Amino acid sequence: MSIVLETINLSRILQEGDLKVTLVDNINLQLASGEFTAITGPSGSGKSSLLYLLGLLDSPTQGDLLINGQSTTQLSEEERAWIRLNSFGFVFQFHFLLAELTVLENVMVPMRQLGKLTRQVMGKRALELLAAVGIADQSYKRPAQLSGGQRQRVAIARALANDPQFIFADEPTGALDTKNANAVFDLLAGLARDQGKTVAVVTHDENLASKTWRRLRMEDGRLIDNNLNKAA
Ligand SMILES: Nc1ncnc2c1ncn2[C@@H]1O[C@H](COP(=O)(O)OP(=O)(O)O)[C@@H](O)[C@H]1O
Ligand SMILES: [Mg+2]
Repeated sequence: MSIVLETINLSRILQEGDLKVTLVDNINLQLASGEFTAITGPSGSGKSSLLYLLGLLDSPTQGDLLINGQSTTQLSEEERAWIRLNSFGFVFQFHFLLAELTVLENVMVPMRQLGKLTRQVMGKRALELLAAVGIADQSYKRPAQLSGGQRQRVAIARALANDPQFIFADEPTGALDTKNANAVFDLLAGLARDQGKTVAVVTHDENLASKTWRRLRMEDGRLIDNNLNKAA
């Protein structure tokens, strides 16, 4: 497997006057293509902050992030947005679906932003993605008519809209019961296993984390363990 993402002394420090908060502290990390990684650690340890840096949703104050070998620190905000749209799919604890759109239209949103496909092709692709996550029959409903587990499936389908290289999820199962949490986690695992996507999931659920191939652990902004599952 090849290294597709690498951090070099990556840090994110917030400074306001005398107050200094280190969210992410000097992290060196590599992710390989097709790897399924869990990021664990106590609340406030910097898991979300790290994931946002890795996904170009936030910028480091020190260090570098290489994506496919390319440094990202010198990129303009426009270039970063373009990489996010093409290469990253995000899933959050709360789905952030647009209430006024149907499920199908929600999945088409990132495709519209990219602007490469005709409306007909976008609709067909969105249906295929919804079928792949097991909810094609919900395509013409509004998000409010779906269960929490179904909405997270829509969020995963939307994350896949532009066939991204990376899928990053921040507590995607945090609002779900055990059965739905397992199903969503298995879907994410399948994206790495069957499609070769590089998948990283923040979770405080140790049971789910133990199902990944690799488990990172954070404490106080630092990476304190890089490889828990592989050692097992
Ligand atoms: N905008 C902010 N201003 C001040 N502190 C913040 C901000 N964002 C996060 N933090 C703090 O940074 C630390 C790491 O936060 P976070 O990455 O959200 O942790 P986790 O996802 O592991 O719970 C926490 O102590 C949090 O309170
Ligand atoms: Mg968090």
